[in-house]
Amino acid sequence: MKTTVCRFDELVSGAVRRFVVGDRAIAIVRIDDKVYAIGDKCSHADVSLSEGEVFCDTKEIECVRHGSAFSLETGKANTLPATQPVPVYRASIDNGNVVVEVQS
Ligand code: FES
Repeated sequence: MKTTVCRFDELVSGAVRRFVVGDRAIAIVRIDDKVYAIGDKCSHADVSLSEGEVFCDTKEIECVRHGSAFSLETGKANTLPATQPVPVYRASIDNGNVVVEVQS
């Protein structure tokens, strides 16, 4: 299922916003002219990743609770204490809209 979540120009590079697509909460991150979509819930505890900080240089988002950094490209937990990945979703820009693809 492809869903438009917002206009690309509403996103600020290096910032994160939370959207709900179907039954999933997704953190959308813009870095320069690219967008990333990652599951909003940390794999370590029930914490919203969209409250964390984006690392543009390494394309990661840091969990605000204990500091695990997750790859925005793969969802992998690159630093402890989280060890499990979070889901990532295909995100693209179509006609100025940010489109996220979620398997139903
Ligand atoms: S809750 Fe995210 S690292 Fe612990």
